[in-house]
Amino acid sequence: MKRISKTVDQLFEKIIQDHEQVSRSEQVQGNHHKDFVDVLLSLIHQLNPNDEEVYMFERTNAKAILLDMISGSFDTSATAIVWTLAELLRHPEVMKRLQKELQSVVGMDRMVEESDLPKLDYLSMVVKESLRLHPVGPLLIPHQSMEDGIMLRISHTKKSRVFINIWTIGRDPNVWSDTVEEFYPERFMIVTLTCRDMTSSSYHLALVEEGALLCS
Ligand code: HEM
Repeated sequence: MKRISKTVDQLFEKIIQDHEQVSRSEQVQGNHHKDFVDVLLSLIHQLNPNDEEVYMFERTNAKAILLDMISGSFDTSATAIVWTLAELLRHPEVMKRLQKELQSVVGMDRMVEESDLPKLDYLSMVVKESLRLHPVGPLLIPHQSMEDGIMLRISHTKKSRVFINIWTIGRDPNVWSDTVEEFYPERFMIVTLTCRDMTSSSYHLALVEEGALLCS
């Protein structure tokens, strides 16, 4: 474990040093384009406004955030893509409809870009349906309550460890009707159409049958 952590630390050290070097030379030339690591580095050595002796952010913090981003993104993205492709192969009619949408919105001559996403309604439904049946973190990540309280009729004390079983929520027939086990992206159609102007779509997954609540 110690060896792995040392290797990871060396890797991040190298990334940071490369950025420090590039940043210095590009600043001289005046054409510096900042990426995520540059932004983290710009926070290092900023002093705490309440206590001028204390730094807000250190090199170790930057490395910890980088580790968070890498460990949070690799496996999740790969697993989500593999499950979605598996479902598309098992449901050729969905695959066809999706291909049709991509052909008409994006065409055959270029890759999909982020700016296309708001127009790719069916793609969005397919991804949501895939994540409903195959959430990459079935219990999400552990949460901790900040206060005593009651959530979903369960009382908890401050600092309780809370696990949310999103896998079970995604397969609850009371929420998703008796087609719960089916891969059926169209179930998201109503919510998508009525909430088109909502920028955050993550709650669609948990609240799909609760359109009114979701859009209010
Ligand atoms: C299909 C891709 C992804 C899926 C399915 C996914 C899923 C999740 C889930 C379920 C959580 C836990 C949320 C919670 O318990 O409240 C989470 C947290 C997180 N994800 Fe992702 N994720 C994906 C991609 C990414 C990517 C690409 C990044 C970074 C570039 C990322 C960074 C994070 C971070 C930093 C957290 C922790 C947030 C916090 O501290 O509250 N994820 N993700």
